[in-house]
Amino acid sequence: MDVCVIGAGYVGLTTSAVLASFGHHVHCVDKDKERITMLLEDKVPIFEPGLEELVIENKKKGNLVFSTQLGKAVKNSSIIFIAVGTPLSADGRADLSFYQAVTNELSTLIDSYKIIITKSTVPVGTNSELERTLLEKGVSADYFDVVSNPEFLREGTAIYDMLHPDKIVVGVNDPKPITMVQKLYQKIQAPFIITSLNGAEMIKYASNTFLAVKISFINELAQISDAYDVDITDVALGLGTDPRIGPHFLRAGLGYGGSCLPKDLASMEHQALKQGITPHLLKAAQTINDLLIDGYVNKLKNKVADLQSKKVTVWGASFKPNTDDTRHSQALRLIERLKEEGCEVHVFDPAVTVDHVKNHQDMYESVNESDVLIIATEWKEFIQADWALVKEKMKGQVILDCRNCVSPRTIKHYGFTYVGMARP
Ligand code: UDX
Repeated sequence: MDVCVIGAGYVGLTTSAVLASFGHHVHCVDKDKERITMLLEDKVPIFEPGLEELVIENKKKGNLVFSTQLGKAVKNSSIIFIAVGTPLSADGRADLSFYQAVTNELSTLIDSYKIIITKSTVPVGTNSELERTLLEKGVSADYFDVVSNPEFLREGTAIYDMLHPDKIVVGVNDPKPITMVQKLYQKIQAPFIITSLNGAEMIKYASNTFLAVKISFINELAQISDAYDVDITDVALGLGTDPRIGPHFLRAGLGYGGSCLPKDLASMEHQALKQGITPHLLKAAQTINDLLIDGYVNKLKNKVADLQSKKVTVWGASFKPNTDDTRHSQALRLIERLKEEGCEVHVFDPAVTVDHVKNHQDMYESVNESDVLIIATEWKEFIQADWALVKEKMKGQVILDCRNCVSPRTIKHYGFTYVGMARP
């Protein structure tokens, strides 16, 4: 099938590369000239394991082309994906300006039947609104169908997640395009969940807000467990074996960040308030997440009385391991807070450099003469660190493990003071 994907970010690029690997002819378009130039030169502008190889392979096969020209791509495609960003605006709304710019342009380009599939996360009602707008702008009803097909991939495992989803959600107001969408994805083994346009949009928000609530739940329990000297990893294990709860997203620590969970929680709150509904649980999840930084800084202050001018090394700045993405990163918020406390902050992250701190290329050099080491993102290299070497280099002995990712027993064995949350 001939497919146009609008947007070459995480979702757009992964969708393009995976659909091309299925043998579809994919035309990926982005307005960002620099981004497209890089892709034309076989360079993938984002850090995502396996993506560059898949892009290069499918470009070579002729299944994947990149350009900034939407007109030609739309003309040659029967399926059009919209995968542009819908970032968080200051008031908590999803900013739909990119999405609206694309749909306005599409309304002037459609001159034969197209299936328009929204991949971007958009507030409930947006796809139905798109249908109305296209009709109002004079596009014939025979020339298009709108489908909401949200994406659930995670950064760092994007390709795997797209190839092995637990479901494919397809929202439509008219069943006509369903068969084509099923054909498009026929190489993926996953159940189709067919619902309305609003239903599909809501499923996406429901998933991300549930994950945020689950993380805040375990983080609240971690604080209570901490007070009672209970190990939260045991609690998570005991909880997670119940199939009604499940073992995932029960890792207590510094909380959630990234481009989706904080944004979608804020947007869902905003959508609820718009309907006169107070989203108590969603607000609580957000508050708990925001206060985690204070909790860890207080824990640190219990061990190091005066943080002023202390050399504090932070390992990890990305919002989670295996990505260079720092959007809404809790690690970055912690770094800012440490600076406010007067600490001399040194940072090592395998994929990120942070502004206005001393960044290091080598994780062991970063702890030279440090008073405190903080693990803020659980990269594999931190979990497997050579603790004897760290001990040799550090001046102080406090290790604050904000991701409960190293064994307290191991850390103590090397003569450190281990500080985690609910890790007695
Ligand atoms: C998320 C959703 O998982 C994905 O389905 C959606 O399409 C996009 O948003 P992503 O933002 O890539 O994916 O990250 P994810 O792996 O979900 O982690 C989100 C945040 O939660 C990270 O900051 C992570 O560190 C944190 N987290 C995750 C926890 O604190 N504890 C956990 O148990 C799991």
